[in-house]
Amino acid sequence: MAIALWWTQAAGQATDRSPASERPPALDDLGLRTVTEMGSREGDALRDWMVAGAPEAVLRGAYTYDQNCSVCHGDTGLGYEEARLAFPADHRSCTRCHRPGNAREMSFETMMERQHDLFDVGDPPALRGPGALSAFAADEVLFAYTKATMPRYQPGRLDDEGYADLVAFMRWIGSPH
Ligand code: HEC
Ligand code: HEC
Repeated sequence: MAIALWWTQAAGQATDRSPASERPPALDDLGLRTVTEMGSREGDALRDWMVAGAPEAVLRGAYTYDQNCSVCHGDTGLGYEEARLAFPADHRSCTRCHRPGNAREMSFETMMERQHDLFDVGDPPALRGPGALSAFAADEVLFAYTKATMPRYQPGRLDDEGYADLVAFMRWIGSPH
């Protein structure tokens, strides 16, 4: 319900046309501003909506993304700013615990010991929107990069099918349908 309303508004903002409910918004219209106004709780629902009716690989990828990637890249792939919104307000300053300059990987034991001095999360970029993934024209390149480096604090922890599904998901959210 709330979601439907936000989408309607997103369409209106992007086209400056009324009535705003004339058509569903293209994925590109769902920018960070919309997500910011929606607040954190709607992020999962918005991602589900983005992949509704998509092929199986994309749906599996959306789930894998939620479990492994959204914590840094945001529920719908808009990057660090969106990711921070999913945390409670007093937890949004990630660098309070994930200190810049620390290693990018840390063992579970170390994390349990040093709860406020953890691995660096870096500056996770948007995976959709203008210019996103521009360095990865070929799926093979995106697959190889993601498998070798992501999730950044524990690269390679998924199997090949998992990474292939993620590539399908990232391509899907990156192009209008
Ligand atoms: C701990 C935070 C974190 C997690 C979790 C994470 N990433 Fe990243 N990701 C980053 C950062 C930071 C970068 C920028 C490059 C770097 O610093 O390694 C990045 C870069 C990327 C890029 C390259 C984007 C570009 O245009 O340069 C892709 C693709 C990507 N991540 C996909 C994923 C996927 C898929 C997952 C889940 C398996 C994931 N990431 C999990 C932090 C994260
Ligand atoms: C108060 C300290 C604190 C803050 C603030 C904090 N974290 Fe963490 N984070 C932890 C601890 C402790 C762990 C390891 C234990 C766990 O998984 O809960 C962790 C684990 C993680 C992990 C790896 C495991 C997982 O749950 O996915 C990622 C990725 C992560 N944090 C990202 C972030 C991001 C992004 C932010 C900012 C929005 C953030 N954290 C803010 C303390 C913090």
